[in-house]
Amino acid sequence: MTDIHPFVRAFREAAPYIHYLRGKTLVVCLDSALSDEAALPLLAADLNLLAALGVRLVLVYGLQRQVEDLCRQNGIGLAYHRERRITTEAVLQQVKQASGSVAADIQAALSLGFAHAPQPVKRLPVVCGNVLWARPLGVWDGVDMQYSGQVRKTDAVAVNRYLDGGSIVLVAPVGISPIGQLYSLSAYEAAQEIAVAVKAEKLLFLIEENGIFGQDGNICHTLNAQEAEEILRSGCLKNDTEQLLQAAVQALDGGVSRVQILSGRNNGDVLRELFTRHGAGTSLSRQAMTRIRTAQESDIPELAALLAPLEEQGILRRRDKAELERHIRRFFLLENDRQLYGCVALRTFADAPHIGELECLAVSREARDSGYGEQLLAHLLKEARRAGIQRLFALTTQTADWFAERGFQAASADELPFERQEIYRSNRRQSKVMVLDLSLQAA
Ligand SMILES: CC(C)(COP(=O)(O)OP(=O)(O)OC[C@H]1O[C@@H](n2cnc3c(N)ncnc32)[C@H](O)[C@@H]1OP(=O)(O)O)[C@@H](O)C(=O)NCCC(=O)NCCS
Repeated sequence: MTDIHPFVRAFREAAPYIHYLRGKTLVVCLDSALSDEAALPLLAADLNLLAALGVRLVLVYGLQRQVEDLCRQNGIGLAYHRERRITTEAVLQQVKQASGSVAADIQAALSLGFAHAPQPVKRLPVVCGNVLWARPLGVWDGVDMQYSGQVRKTDAVAVNRYLDGGSIVLVAPVGISPIGQLYSLSAYEAAQEIAVAVKAEKLLFLIEENGIFGQDGNICHTLNAQEAEEILRSGCLKNDTEQLLQAAVQALDGGVSRVQILSGRNNGDVLRELFTRHGAGTSLSRQAMTRIRTAQESDIPELAALLAPLEEQGILRRRDKAELERHIRRFFLLENDRQLYGCVALRTFADAPHIGELECLAVSREARDSGYGEQLLAHLLKEARRAGIQRLFALTTQTADWFAERGFQAASADELPFERQEIYRSNRRQSKVMVLDLSLQAA
């Protein structure tokens, strides 16, 4: 096989994501720290690229840093209660000023189009929508939160109308009450409310950090709602990150199927997150994204595509379509985000019911070293035990060490069930025989 240029490989990898995102609505929440000269032009170029690929975009921007800076410059004191800023009349004036200034900067950055365009690109229309209705937070524990508010309602019809017209919708974290009073809102909450109201496909939080870090100090690449709630309960997060994660969980509760939290500072992370298998930051979904299930006939084309390169290299023996069809129910498939990444099969023997064979363990090259092989093995061991198997064989030409590190031991072909010995001797693969005694293993 000739080497494939990395760009071609990457572009092909991106193709299903491009197809999937076309026509879908994405709500992007931009942390206030990112509206600066370093981050904004790069982010704006990537948002332009997304719009050019047919993604419908709503951009909610934060104002916290700008409001705090303005208050400091103007000698206006700031007070907080339960981690929310108390918005006095004077602070509200700074909110208005910051909002106008950041909106202008974002529009200017968006008007530049995407980088290295071969010809002038039509300017992306931006609509600054007053799409949020607000109500006051009121009095918390005896403290009047004044003009700090919460979202009362989102005008989803207006948002969709703007999006249908081909515009990007720019939303400030401010809302107006039915009596015309302006309230300052949390950008995280505003983005989450809009994402739920417009039934967005995804909600992206662009922040300074690379994602959410768990109790062990490592970044969490994927989280389901339950895991996110455990992190919230552990109290290991900084206050603003806690509010962010709470908003993410509420978005999942409200029906948004995917929330992604990632750095808006690392050049290109948004594109990596949306168009590559591994993503860039923390990806949250209601259910776990990785699952292992029994294969069906309709999986055969994808399964064959997964196995083909390994068969070509002689790592796995060739299985034609007829064989896959005959034995498809032996296979278990590992999927992440509905994409196939690995497989394993369990073969049983009529003449030796306590013996099983692990066959065809494979993980696609780009997904290796993520623990998928280990997960497939754990799943197969569970299935084998359920089937009453006590000794599990694996025949391998290049992966004996991998099995040995997981408790398998070298065995002789004579220990295989009789019908398998005959096949083993008739082919010339000279595979090593490895065996795991399940009766000695903890379930
Ligand atoms: C073997 C295989 C399934 C492992 O999948 P995976 O998802 O990368 O495995 P995991 O992430 O659970 O484990 C990765 C570890 O296994 C090691 N490993 C991978 N292939 C190995 C091999 N052939 N021999 C020894 N160790 C190996 C990696 O170096 C890594 O080690 P580390 O954790 O110390 O860094 C995958 O490499 C594969 O598809 N190989 C080709 C097919 C094959 O050989 N199948 C077995 C025949 S049935």
